[in-house]
Amino acid sequence: MKKIFVNGYGSIGKRITKFILDDPEIRLLGIGKHTPDDTIKDILSQGLNVYVLQKNLHIFDKYNINGTIEDILTECDLVIDASPSGYGFYNKQKIYNKHNVMVIYQGGETIFGDNAVSDLIFNSTVNYEKAFNKQHVIQGSCNVTGMGRILNPLQIKYHDNIIRFDLTLIRRWADLEDIKTIVDDSIELVKNPHHANDVGSYLGSKIPVFVRAIKVPTRQMHLHFLDVRFSKNVPSESEIIKLFKDEYGIAILNKAKSTKEVRDFAESTKFNFKDTNMIHIYSDFVEKTGDTIKICYSDDQTGIVIPENHLLLQAMLFKRNYKDAVRHTENIFNMSQKKKLLETYFATK
Ligand SMILES: NC(=O)c1ccc[n+]([C@@H]2O[C@H](COP(=O)([O-])OP(=O)(O)OC[C@H]3O[C@@H](n4cnc5c(N)ncnc54)[C@H](OP(=O)(O)O)[C@@H]3O)[C@@H](O)[C@H]2O)c1
Repeated sequence: MKKIFVNGYGSIGKRITKFILDDPEIRLLGIGKHTPDDTIKDILSQGLNVYVLQKNLHIFDKYNINGTIEDILTECDLVIDASPSGYGFYNKQKIYNKHNVMVIYQGGETIFGDNAVSDLIFNSTVNYEKAFNKQHVIQGSCNVTGMGRILNPLQIKYHDNIIRFDLTLIRRWADLEDIKTIVDDSIELVKNPHHANDVGSYLGSKIPVFVRAIKVPTRQMHLHFLDVRFSKNVPSESEIIKLFKDEYGIAILNKAKSTKEVRDFAESTKFNFKDTNMIHIYSDFVEKTGDTIKICYSDDQTGIVIPENHLLLQAMLFKRNYKDAVRHTENIFNMSQKKKLLETYFATK
């Protein structure tokens, strides 16, 4: 059985840990911790192992640590790095490169410049098989994952007929469970957002993608406004909605008017971590104006990348074909059932 180590136990690391425990095909060796705090008791109480860096052993002497990260990596097939943005690069230099281990990084890392950790940003619907022979791969960030999921079907269906994609990202300030971050009463402008370059790395540059981003005081998802400019034969609103009807990880919500409504529904339905794991198109707000189709969707910030990590892991560890991998991920995450519940609830609201 393939053995996995999760380095970092924050918003993303906790969710990844949960699916590894739910998947009978893989085994969790343990969790990497970097700050001596009560989270360790929580991890140990689940019967899981905790590992720390050799150089940090002394600051964890009050806890029942199982060993060092350096040692556990010698037994490990794949690391899922869930460290804060930029630390994946540091971890690669300091520890992963010394071991013959595969690593999945998260979307806070980059494929560009001196701090690149990989040359591939993964998006399951676009480049699943490209991860087959890679040792280091980045799972795209939540917004990059959501954007790819929406832009890819449009690009495939309308290719030459689309002149450009313009996206405005309204980003959430902090995650639901992030109690440390104070959510300021402000709108923050984001300079040089990374999303257009990241998405371009796997969709190509044939249709230009322009992105601007602001951060707003909410914890309830990201919201994207997408304008698709056509050169001729602009499709109708209903044709666009139909295009996304059967797409993996996309729910079409008829009467939804806010991100919180969607999150509250996920909570009331007892989805794990209140995650829907997908994007939600607000179909009442899909609009055709002249040469442009306007689409509005929200992106479940932490949830959306978790099934993607599961698919990426299957590509890297098992080189499983895409259909079988989606089937296996489906058994763990029940995405179709969640989609159906969401769509039915918002259709009849
Ligand atoms: N949150 C989201 O919505 C979201 C969505 C998509 C992608 N991402 C990406 O996922 C990554 C993790 O984000 P997050 O939101 O889970 O962050 P987070 O909640 O701040 O958690 C990060 C965790 O990393 C641990 N850590 C600290 N130093 C580390 C090191 N050197 N190596 C490994 N782990 C270390 C911290 O553990 P200690 O407490 O022990 O120090 C902390 O638990 C980032 O790249 C982020 O951009 C986040």
